[in-house]
Formats: sequence, structure tokens, C-alpha cells
Amino acid sequence: SIFIDAILAVGKVKENVEIAEYKAKDINDFYFYNQWDEKLKIKDWQSESIEFHNYDIEVVDAIVDRRSIRHFNENKSIPRSVILELLKAGMMVSLTINQPYLKIIIVEDKNFLNQIAKHSKIVLKQSHVGEVPLIIVITYDCSNNSPGFYSETDSGSIIQSILLRAHTLGIGSCWIGAFNRKVVRKILKIPEDWHIPSMAIFGYPNNFPKPTPRVDLGKVCYHNSWKNHIKKRKRTLLPDYFALSIWFKKFRNTQVTTLL
Ligand SMILES: Cc1cc2nc3c(=O)[nH]c(=O)nc-3n(C[C@H](O)[C@H](O)[C@H](O)COP(=O)(O)O)c2cc1C
Repeated sequence: SIFIDAILAVGKVKENVEIAEYKAKDINDFYFYNQWDEKLKIKDWQSESIEFHNYDIEVVDAIVDRRSIRHFNENKSIPRSVILELLKAGMMVSLTINQPYLKIIIVEDKNFLNQIAKHSKIVLKQSHVGEVPLIIVITYDCSNNSPGFYSETDSGSIIQSILLRAHTLGIGSCWIGAFNRKVVRKILKIPEDWHIPSMAIFGYPNNFPKPTPRVDLGKVCYHNSWKNHIKKRKRTLLPDYFALSIWFKKFRNTQVTTLL
């Protein structure tokens, strides 16, 4: 049967299958709860097993259909069993080395969520940050003897993996880079030598926005040699500057199709 749970994900509900064995220790190496050094009580979370919809979505559909969500249902929290699925997805990425030079904080505490939202501005307040029941903050060790040489890359792939998994669970998400790191560090008690590259917000979506126009492949991909464009670029009057060109494209019919 087909379930439509949120506007976000449509697909057949899948049987719950464990894709890999996760030891509590592994998750505890990487994830904290609400504040630095606060242990995630994984055993309790696992026992709070609640049925949830796990949509049978092809990887390509998740990649194409994921959107940054900026309107959330503020009255609906995310069950712990679903959050656990997100955390597991974060652990499945390819990491430079399998050592906890990255730490990820799962923030559910209402007071912390409010404070973080207050300090996440792009000139104006980003109100969507204040609407979510869950923020995942990623940090990495940037001290001199840190073993993580590609931590920025690792952090990005962890977040992307979590965002895609969220999409398959009917959860909306948005990557957040604009926030006051000094304040967030203080709220979450993150040590000075741990950098906070970005965070992501999660909740049940209230809308499903149209796709943002994508940058033309011909602009960013070369074939075999530098400047040998993979795709012939059409002559266009659109400005070359990326942000402006996206803005102009919004006035035309976008070429991006979505599977939904
Ligand atoms: C590193 C990074 C930081 C971002 N920071 C923000 C942010 O602070 N606020 C926000 O609303 N969106 C933020 N975004 C989301 C982008 O604006 C969004 O992904 C982009 O517009 C494309 O839209 P889509 O995700 O719906 O495909 C960020 C994305 C990335 C990758």
C-alpha cells in the first residue's frame, strides 16, 4: 500500500531491515546528546522502539527530490527510533580514518534549540531554525595533533548522508551554515579546538518547495582536460555570476524536473 505521511516522501512503506550491526560503542564514540560530553543513552533509545514509516525510495529519487525545507510542523517531534536511523546513516559514510576526530551533537533540548535559533541569522533571523524539534551539530578536532586531515570533507558527507536518509523517512531538513559559532560553542560547551563547520535542522515539513535551479553542468564539468566543457554551453544572456544567474533563472521555467 502507498502511504503519504508528509508531503515530502511518497513510496511504498518498507519492511524494517537492519542494514548493518551497530555497536552502541561506535555510536557513542561519535554522537553526544544536547551538550558536549553528554552521553547518548543508546540502550534506552533502542528500547523506545516505535513503528515508523521507512519509504522504499530509490537512491536517485532521494538525491533528486531532497529539498531544503524551511517551514516545519512545530507540533510534531521526531521519534527516537527515527533519529537513530539518521545517526546510523551518518556513520555509514566513507571516512578518512575510522577514528572519532569528529563529534556530532544531537540537540533536542527546547531551551538550547531556542537559543541556537536566536543566533542563526543571515542578516534577518532564519525563522525555520526556530521551528524544528531537532538540530544536529557537527564538530571536528582542529588541534595540531588531530588525525582528521579531511575533516571538512568528512563533515559534509556525513551531513549529506543524514539529509538523504531523513528524506526517505518523510523528514524535512535544511543544512545551516549561517549561525553564530561563538554562541553555539558556548551553549553546547564545545571546546575551543573543535571547529563547527555546519549544522542541520530536522522536522516534519509543512511544505515541499520547488527545486532551486541548478548550475549548468557545462559550467562546472570539463572532460579530460581543463576548459574542455563536457557540454556545449548555449549562448545566453544570463549573468555568469552564480547567485545572480540562479536569481534570473527563477523568472524562467526551470529545466529541473522532480520525480514527485
Ligand atoms: C554548507 C551549507 C550551508 C547552508 N546554509 C544555509 C543556511 O544557513 N540557511 C538556509 O536556509 N539554507 C542553507 N543552506 C541550504 C542551501 O541554501 C540549499 O541547499 C540550496 O539553496 C539548494 O536548495 P535545495 O537544498 O532545496 O536543493 C546551506 C547549504 C549548505 C551546503
